[in-house]
Amino acid sequence: MADAEDRRRVIETIRERVTPEVAEREAMRDAVAALTSRVGAELDTLSVDADIVQVGSTARGTWLAGDRDIDLFVRFSPSLDRQTLERYGLEVGNAVLPDGHEEYAEHPYVTGEFQGFDVDLVPCYDVDDGASLQSAVDRTPHHNAYLRERIDDDLAGEVRVFKQFLKGIGAYGSDLKTRGFSGYLAELLVLEAGGFKTLLDAAADWHPPVFFDPEDHGSTDHDDPLVVVDPTDPDRNVAAVCATENVARLQHHARAFLDAPSIDPFEPRSPEPLDADAVRAHVDRRGTVPVALVFDAPDIVDDQLYPQLKKSLSGVRDALDRRGFGPIRATAFADDRAVLLVELAHRSLPAIERHDGPPVQVRQHAEGFYGAYAERADESGAAPYGPFIEGDRYVVERGRDFTDAVNFLNSERLFGVGLGAQIETALEDDYEVFAGTEIAELAPSFGTSFATYFDPRP
Ligand code: UTP
Ligand code: MN
Repeated sequence: MADAEDRRRVIETIRERVTPEVAEREAMRDAVAALTSRVGAELDTLSVDADIVQVGSTARGTWLAGDRDIDLFVRFSPSLDRQTLERYGLEVGNAVLPDGHEEYAEHPYVTGEFQGFDVDLVPCYDVDDGASLQSAVDRTPHHNAYLRERIDDDLAGEVRVFKQFLKGIGAYGSDLKTRGFSGYLAELLVLEAGGFKTLLDAAADWHPPVFFDPEDHGSTDHDDPLVVVDPTDPDRNVAAVCATENVARLQHHARAFLDAPSIDPFEPRSPEPLDADAVRAHVDRRGTVPVALVFDAPDIVDDQLYPQLKKSLSGVRDALDRRGFGPIRATAFADDRAVLLVELAHRSLPAIERHDGPPVQVRQHAEGFYGAYAERADESGAAPYGPFIEGDRYVVERGRDFTDAVNFLNSERLFGVGLGAQIETALEDDYEVFAGTEIAELAPSFGTSFATYFDPRP
């Protein structure tokens, strides 16, 4: 049983660490004031009616010390057409952040540096609530208003501690690489539970699917492990991108922390990269056959790249599984090059494979099966063994299409598996296959990824 005093001490240590100093708050306030007046001046020049709202964690006092992002929204009238809103948004953004660059989320906005802060300047529509959304970002100012009314300084401290916890365990962020908890979601959960510790108590006992509906909107039409109905939009699950793994990860670390409080889970893991010898030693020790497809990563943003890597990886893994190569674990990683790694139980298989047919008593199926295999030769022209009978079923031992996993990966059949569109293009262009201890050659570029892979943790 953990000592409550130990736990409070750890939480207090973290809280102090993540609370911004007065100087940081003042610098932030000055930067926001300067930005706001510049945006105002630009709007005057354009003579268009719009207001400026600061949103996100820095508007609510829930940002982590040292996290220097300012989110400023320019709210235009809903009567403005979409094209004009985008044009005004970019004009204002480029004028205020001349060294910035344009980014495209659901619609274009400008991001750039200002007085040492990373600023996002985003145009949106001034709509009443979620029901009248014209663009996805129109919700954001409503999130802000909702939380500002409900989160006081003390609860803001609890939010920061929880966000740092999520960061430490690798579950913070709604980007599609992480698929974790967004800042807004973290705030809603702390608000619901009343504090960090009470949230961990609750999470330790969750039985997903877990459902929260802070404003009693009553919508239940979501198929996710965690559902938090957006107080400002009944149709939206705030936790929609949060992966099952990250819900489970929070539960694990909540239990571990409650059991033995420590600052460790608050500190993101940064393992020492493995060198080639260390990778080779792991492969030898495990006695497996890792196979890796290596190719130039397509030039797309991470939110497009990672879902495509994930899809491609499961396509390749399933294809190897169906063919009997026994995948044990698989992962994908990328920098300029991308790697799809599948660790196999075996690389080589016998020339034949067993294939169970229907029960003899099911006449139509049975006759169809028997007829097909009694006549059929396999791809190499060899006849199958059988069909024969085992128990009440027909069984046939037929030739495999691939006896070597690497031959499969080097074949045209690779392109028959479900691949992400731009991954497919990249593979069509060129790729290399590494097998067994050859993957050690990838260590100089991907040593950190290997370190994580060969030391898996919750
Ligand atoms: P941010 O990603 O900057 O989040 O998005 P944040 O709440 O400020 O948290 P940190 O401290 O920077 O990590 C700004 C706002 O955009 C909306 C939320 O209202 C958020 O507060 N948003 C962002 C979402 O609703 N969902 C998302 O996935 C991301
Ligand atoms: Mn932010």
